[in-house]
Amino acid sequence: MQTLIALLIGLAAGVLLTVIAMNTLRKANAYPFGVMAVLAAQMGHIDRQIEARACTAADFEAPLATLVALGNDLEPAFLPTADDAAFSRYAADYRLAVESMLAAEPADCAAAERALDAVSASCQACHAQFKG
Ligand code: HEC
Repeated sequence: MQTLIALLIGLAAGVLLTVIAMNTLRKANAYPFGVMAVLAAQMGHIDRQIEARACTAADFEAPLATLVALGNDLEPAFLPTADDAAFSRYAADYRLAVESMLAAEPADCAAAERALDAVSASCQACHAQFKG
């Protein structure tokens, strides 16, 4: 009987600790995953605008403003990494791509698509090294 009680207490403690550990992990990942989820959502938004042939500067203003602002959250969300200098270089490339899309105000959908491709390439360059 005592062994059974000890076993049950042990099991309950194990479950509790697992839940605590999983919760801690989830919270630790919330910031970086949140940044990436919003980046992906805004990229999708711009992509759909282009598909709908809505390509004036005004059409891109809001999503681009978010993409620019989140450029400031890359290092705070992800550092320290295995290679912080490389991560910051990719982050700077991303910021440059987004800022030039904002500055150049795409004249038409073809120009917007090229600018979006450049941003997307900067996402992929960082993912190639840092996304597991
Ligand atoms: C400077 C580096 C960097 C840049 C730039 C970057 N990402 Fe990421 N991204 C990461 C890392 C690192 C991960 C992996 C996070 C992990 O698995 O811990 C990731 C993961 C993701 C994920 C998957 C998240 C998940 O839930 O698994 C998506 C979606 C994503 N990024 C979208 C984007 C988009 C869209 C862009 C460009 C607009 C972008 N990222 C730019 C570093 C970057």
